[in-house]
Amino acid sequence: MFVVVMAALLYAVIRYRRRLGDDIPEQIHGNTRLEIAWSIAPALILIAVAIPTVITIFDNANSPLPPEKGGLEVEVIAHQWWFEFRYPEANVVTANELHIPVGEVVNLKLDSVDVIHSFWIPKLAGKVDMIPNSQNTMWIQADQPGDYYGQCAEFCGESHANMKFRVVAEPLEDFDNWLQAQSVDAVEPVEPLAKQGHDLFISREASCFACHTISGSRRAQGQVGPNLTHFASRQHFAGSILENTQDNLRKWLQDPQSVKPGNLMARDATIYTDPNLTLTEPEISALIAYLQSLK
Ligand code: CUA
Repeated sequence: MFVVVMAALLYAVIRYRRRLGDDIPEQIHGNTRLEIAWSIAPALILIAVAIPTVITIFDNANSPLPPEKGGLEVEVIAHQWWFEFRYPEANVVTANELHIPVGEVVNLKLDSVDVIHSFWIPKLAGKVDMIPNSQNTMWIQADQPGDYYGQCAEFCGESHANMKFRVVAEPLEDFDNWLQAQSVDAVEPVEPLAKQGHDLFISREASCFACHTISGSRRAQGQVGPNLTHFASRQHFAGSILENTQDNLRKWLQDPQSVKPGNLMARDATIYTDPNLTLTEPEISALIAYLQSLK
């Protein structure tokens, strides 16, 4: 479009430029027939585009409103900048990975704790806004097993582009096993390094517990960051931008801001004075051992 318009413009400028000895050209202001034509033609084009667009938008939103009642229900809560998934019936809270059974309707309740985000799994459904204090709903169904990529689709601050998630669609039996495993409390580790990490996790020193919940731990009940009860069972972390490996965990704990700028991984996220965790290498190794024990 740009090239065609610019080429036509350049041609007209050069071909019809003012030459020596030219008189003032004929004045043709107010050509009624031309003006009617260039008003009606674009209007017709816009109407032709609008009709199928509007029909599709309504189809996406309403057709048919949850096809079955009583399907699985998941609460999706947006945070700057990660997604939380709650399965209220199973008392499971997780992050970054939305597990669903294949071939079944899943009803989603969408909410946000801070700003407006947008929930989008391009291969499964259209975008729906996630608005603080106003619950939106949608439903999805994956007909093929596998991982489906998801992304926040509404600019929501510094790390909007790093706010991703994955839908893991699996056969019903696998899903039930997963849900069952997620509903169990975490076990305190016995392996010495992991035990050291656990103690650090709930210490005032590192105060990870102030923001993160570990089910089964009396102390770690923080609600600011992701629930880490079964952290090691997830394939990705940090807004689903990093694979859950030892190297990536080290990178994240050394300098979270370099991975996801603006995130709240600080010694004290509530006052947010020091955006660095200032953990020592041995402390990081112990925390990694602990996190990897949370199967
Ligand atoms: Cu959340 Cu963009």
